[in-house]
Amino acid sequence: MVVRRIFIGFIRWSIALTVKNIITPELPGELTLELPEHGGDLGFASQCYGISLDKWLDLSTGINPDGYPIPQIPQQYFQQLPQRHQKQALIEAAKTYYQCENIVVGAGSQQFIELLPQLHTSGKVAMPDIGYREHLYAWSRAGYQIIFYDSSSAESLQTIVNNNDVNVVIVINPCNPAAIHIEKNLLLKLQQKMATRGGWLIVDEAFADVNPMHSISGYAHLPGVIVLRSLGKLFGLAGIRIGFLLASKAIISKIEMRIGLWPVSLPSLFIATQALLDKQWQYTARKQHSAAEQWLFSLLQKKLGHEALHIRRAGLFVSVILNEQLAIHLYQSLASQGIWVRYWDLSSSLSSILSDKALLRFGLVSITDANAQEKLINGLAYAMSE
Ligand SMILES: Cc1ncc(COP(=O)(O)O)c(C=O)c1O
Repeated sequence: MVVRRIFIGFIRWSIALTVKNIITPELPGELTLELPEHGGDLGFASQCYGISLDKWLDLSTGINPDGYPIPQIPQQYFQQLPQRHQKQALIEAAKTYYQCENIVVGAGSQQFIELLPQLHTSGKVAMPDIGYREHLYAWSRAGYQIIFYDSSSAESLQTIVNNNDVNVVIVINPCNPAAIHIEKNLLLKLQQKMATRGGWLIVDEAFADVNPMHSISGYAHLPGVIVLRSLGKLFGLAGIRIGFLLASKAIISKIEMRIGLWPVSLPSLFIATQALLDKQWQYTARKQHSAAEQWLFSLLQKKLGHEALHIRRAGLFVSVILNEQLAIHLYQSLASQGIWVRYWDLSSSLSSILSDKALLRFGLVSITDANAQEKLINGLAYAMSE
């Protein structure tokens, strides 16, 4: 019996170590240039846990589970090249939706994240210590010096901009995965500071569609402001690879020169134009969505509230900060029950209270999917009882 216990303990310990190694991202302090990991890799989950793909409840991304329904696409669109008027129709729809003057479309906001370091001259780039790591990867690979600010503190962001001669400041708003919003007024103050030194304020608003009141898309024409938007999150259209960059005319023309002739396919242009024009769908999606977010937030508060340091919501996901051991246990237990969430190591966070913590990010469960809701309720109850 004792031997069996020791054996099981050893197996658990080694799985924990393996999982931690697999899921631990490159740490800001170390600035490794390994490719960042992403949510949604169910093939990997399936391999690790021996559960077939169709059995998973995938909560590892912030993609709306009730995304925009794909309209009938004219057959010839798969054979033709995108024409100027079709692209223009999308640009006009996007200008109205984002309330901006200048905009360029690309293959997801990711394309712009990769492109931007090539357009600025070298220097210092400030970014959140906990945030979508593609920014870190793109700017550090291009040779910039990276300075981190504490993603949970607006003062830390302000101090970095005031005290350092940073050339570029990146804000992820709301921050994925920290689930923190930066106020619009603060962003506009930062814009003034950056503009006087000829710098950039890049605001990644990939998750901003749910709570647009925090968005500065309407101010993207101001000097130095660059806003990134995505159709992959609230619209749930991550697979068609459409994103936008909003900025001054001067920045837009630089991007257009680099982005190539046909960055997005005609079927994608077509779907995106319909989605941006469809006010009725957007209205219903926001309502449905806020019910799904409230459901998830309440469930996590009920099941994990007594153990969590924070439970924060950001529209399309809810992030829970826990002691590292418990986070690893929950992550593994949920995964072994076919529930895939996102684990985030926080040991290199600038905030000392987070050094022994980890973050679990839960994507939304559709409010129309009672089976999925039940699976998560039971999964959390079982994981907490183990
Ligand atoms: C904060 C953030 N920005 C940008 C992206 C890129 O999204 P996309 O290229 O689909 O627009 C992601 C993807 O997860 C993200 O989390």
